[in-house]
Amino acid sequence: MSDERPVAGPASLPRVTYSNIGEDFSGVHAHLDAVIAEVKDGLLGQDRPNLVAGRDSRDGSAYVAASPIDRGLPLGTFFAASPEAVDAAVRAARKAQPAWARMGWEARVAIARKAADHVEARKFEIAIACLIEVGKSRMEALGEVEETIDLIRFYATEMEANRGWDRPLERANPREETRDRLRPFGVFGVIAPFNFPVALSAGMAVSALLAGNTVVFKPSPMAGLTGRLLAGCLIEAGVPEGVFSLLCGGAETGAAIVAHPGIDGIAFTGSHQVGMAILRGFGAGGVHARPVLAEMGGKNPTYVTASADLETAAAGMVRSAFGLQGQKCSAGSVVFVHEAVRAPFLERLEAAAGALVIGDPCERHVFIGPLISEAARQRFEQSVAGARAAGARVAGGALLSGGLFDRGAYCQPTIAIGLPDDHALHREELFLPFLTVRSFTELDDAISRGNAVRYGLTAGIYTADAADLDLFLDTAEAGVLYANRASGATTGAWPGTQTFCGWKGSGTGSKGGLGTWYLPQFMREQSHTIMRERP
Ligand code: UN1
Repeated sequence: MSDERPVAGPASLPRVTYSNIGEDFSGVHAHLDAVIAEVKDGLLGQDRPNLVAGRDSRDGSAYVAASPIDRGLPLGTFFAASPEAVDAAVRAARKAQPAWARMGWEARVAIARKAADHVEARKFEIAIACLIEVGKSRMEALGEVEETIDLIRFYATEMEANRGWDRPLERANPREETRDRLRPFGVFGVIAPFNFPVALSAGMAVSALLAGNTVVFKPSPMAGLTGRLLAGCLIEAGVPEGVFSLLCGGAETGAAIVAHPGIDGIAFTGSHQVGMAILRGFGAGGVHARPVLAEMGGKNPTYVTASADLETAAAGMVRSAFGLQGQKCSAGSVVFVHEAVRAPFLERLEAAAGALVIGDPCERHVFIGPLISEAARQRFEQSVAGARAAGARVAGGALLSGGLFDRGAYCQPTIAIGLPDDHALHREELFLPFLTVRSFTELDDAISRGNAVRYGLTAGIYTADAADLDLFLDTAEAGVLYANRASGATTGAWPGTQTFCGWKGSGTGSKGGLGTWYLPQFMREQSHTIMRERP
C-alpha cells in the first residue's frame, strides 16, 4: 500500500527467530529504539478498509479497535463485513479462480516469492504493527515476521520441488499417456486467529493461493491491522483482482463465509470448539465432503525427569508457558516434575518466572505484555480463584494496576502448584500465562496422564536419560515433540525445521503446517489417461 513507508531496518542486523536466543540482538534493539515511536504513530488511528474484488470496501459496520497495550490507543477503524460484502468477495473469488489456476504454478510461485520480499522489506513495520495490535514482545513480533517470510518461501520451494504436483504415471499400454495431477478445489475461506496474525494468516492463505485456489481471508477482529498490511504485500506482489479478498469482522462474518455456497474449502486456526463446528457443519454437513484444514489449540505437557538439567528446563518452561502471555496453542501449560527434583526445579521455575519483566512490549526488556482482551482477563481471574479454591499454592496470580496497567489487562506469570490431579485446570486450554504443576515417579504413568486430554499438539521433555527420551518419543500423543530446549519447552516451531501437526482434538488433518505435506491438502487429485494414436 502506497501510504506506508517500507521499514526493513539495516540489512546487517541478525534475524530474530524463536530459538536463536543466545545471539546478540543489541543492534536490533537499537534500531527499534530509533524507529518504534515514529512507525507506531504512522500506523495508529487510520482507516483500514476491507479488500473486495481488488478494491477497498467499507461495506459493513465500522468499529474502532484499540491496542491491548493501552485501551486508549486506537489501532484504527475497521469494517465488520456485511453479508453483501462477503457475497461480493466470494463471487469475485469464484470469477478469478479459473484464470489463477491456469496461470500455472511457476507464475504463482513467482508472485508468492515477491510477496515474501515485500514482507521482508517492511519487516520492522509489520513487526511493530503486530506488537501494538496483539501485545507481543519485540522478539516475539520480529520472530513472527521472520517466520512469515520463511513460510512463504518454504511453501514456494515445496511447490517447485514437486513441480506443482504434476507427474507421469505407469502406462498400461505404450499408446497411453498417463499423468497424476493435484488440482485446486476452488475458493478457500481462510479464518485466522489473533495470536500469530501474520504468520498463521500467511501460512494458510499463501498455501491456498500457491495451490491455485483463490482466497477469502478473515483475520481476527483484533488483528485487522496486520491483516491489511499482509494483504498489501500480496497485492503489491501482483496477486490479481479478486484472487485474494480481505474481510474483517467477528464470528458473524466468519459464519457468513463458512455458510456461503461458493466456498469450497476452509483453512482455520482457532479454538477446538469452532474448528469442530466447521468440520461438522461445513466439512460433513453438505451434499459432499469438503476440506477443512483446522489447527485447534492444545494443552501441551512437559516432563522434567530426575536427570534433567534443571536450569535449562526452567528457562525453556518459562519461555514456553509465558511467551506471548501464554496465548499460543503451542504454549506449555502443564509441567510434570519427577518427585526427586520437584523442590529444586520449582525453586528455579518460580525464580525465572518472577524475573520476567511485565509492561509495555514496545520496551526492550519487556517479556510479558498485556492479555488480548477483557474476556482473557476474566478467565485469568477465574482460573486463579479456581486454583486457590482447590487448595493450590499459586505463585504470581495477581492482576496488575497503576499507570499503564490500568489501561490494559496485565497479569503476573502464574504457576499453580498442588492442584488435585484430576482438576480441570490440568486439562482445559486456558490461553493464559498460567502453568499447572503435576508430580510423578514413573515417566510412563506421567506420559499417560499428559496424554489423557482432548488435545495433542506439542509436548516437551527435559532428560539426560536415553531410555526416558525414547519412551517419550514413542508414547507422547502429540504432533510436535521437543527435548531439552532452553528456547521453549513446547514452542517455537519453524518452517521446514519442525512440522506442526495437531493430533486428536488439536487438528482435523493428519498432515501439519510448516512441512512438506501441508500444501497438497489444498488440492485434490486427478489422473489423466489419454490414448494416443501412436506411442
Ligand atoms: C501457535 O502456537 O498458536 O510453534 C501457533 C510455535 C509457533 C506458533 C504456532 N510457530 O510456537
